[in-house]
Amino acid sequence: MPSQHPHRAKKICISSGKGGVGKTSFAVNLATSLAGKQRKVLLIDGDLGLANVDVLLGLNVRHTVRENIEEGRDLAGLLLPVAAGFHVLPATSGVPEMVNLSFEEQRELTQALDAIMNRFDFVLIDTAAGIGDSVLWFNAWADTNVVIVSPDPTSMTDAYALIKVLVARHRKSVFHLVINSVRSQKEGKEVFAGLSGVVTKFLRITPRPLGALPHDSAVVRAIRNRRPFLLEAPESKVSLAVMQIADKILTL
Ligand SMILES: Nc1ncnc2c1ncn2[C@@H]1O[C@H](COP(=O)(O)OP(=O)(O)OP(=O)(O)O)[C@@H](O)[C@H]1O
Ligand SMILES: [Mg+2]
Repeated sequence: MPSQHPHRAKKICISSGKGGVGKTSFAVNLATSLAGKQRKVLLIDGDLGLANVDVLLGLNVRHTVRENIEEGRDLAGLLLPVAAGFHVLPATSGVPEMVNLSFEEQRELTQALDAIMNRFDFVLIDTAAGIGDSVLWFNAWADTNVVIVSPDPTSMTDAYALIKVLVARHRKSVFHLVINSVRSQKEGKEVFAGLSGVVTKFLRITPRPLGALPHDSAVVRAIRNRRPFLLEAPESKVSLAVMQIADKILTL
């Protein structure tokens, strides 16, 4: 069992550049899938936006990260159990704002987060859209960077802009791409080839494919019911695609 030995979790940051391409849906369902494979998963909600993890799973907290740090408590009390092996650190805990504050506060946040890391096999971070401070901070902190892109051309240019700034400012060089809302596997391959070609040409690094998720009405239905689609519609194509990506992530 991977969770019986204290160790540092693999930290996977999920970003997209453009908003609304499926970061939160993917993050929640990837977490559900990894937890279903007996891994201990923490999902950090790094986005205080409207359709964030708190909303998707119907969560809320009463204490903040800053209160816990100031009172000398660790962050464990802020983690909300969602399912067996799956906890969330909600955005309402104040974690996204701390990233925008002083260097000292960011250092305290890093220490506080690192102190609870050994409880988990995977820490997933669902970031906000764009390339703001919090998005860059979480990507720099993580050791695995996943970028979600959809077939929409503006999603591809925004994903490129995100990758470019992470290469230039944070010396990141390994990016894993997830193509979301594709109408066919062929479309997924084309989108990957298009973005990968531009990144390779101009940034001189080659992104890695993690997989493509089909456009599927099961996603919208699950959001309406505030449950992961993996549980609402385990046999759907999108659920099977997420489970394949989870298997790949276990081998990274
Ligand atoms: N594979 C899919 N099939 C069908 N609809 C999808 C799929 N993925 C996402 N969606 C739709 O896109 C919407 C946005 O998804 P989601 O909230 O996960 O994106 P996001 O990238 O987290 O957005 P934001 O940038 O606002 O945080 C969902 O409400 C859902 O309706
Ligand atoms: Mg989101």
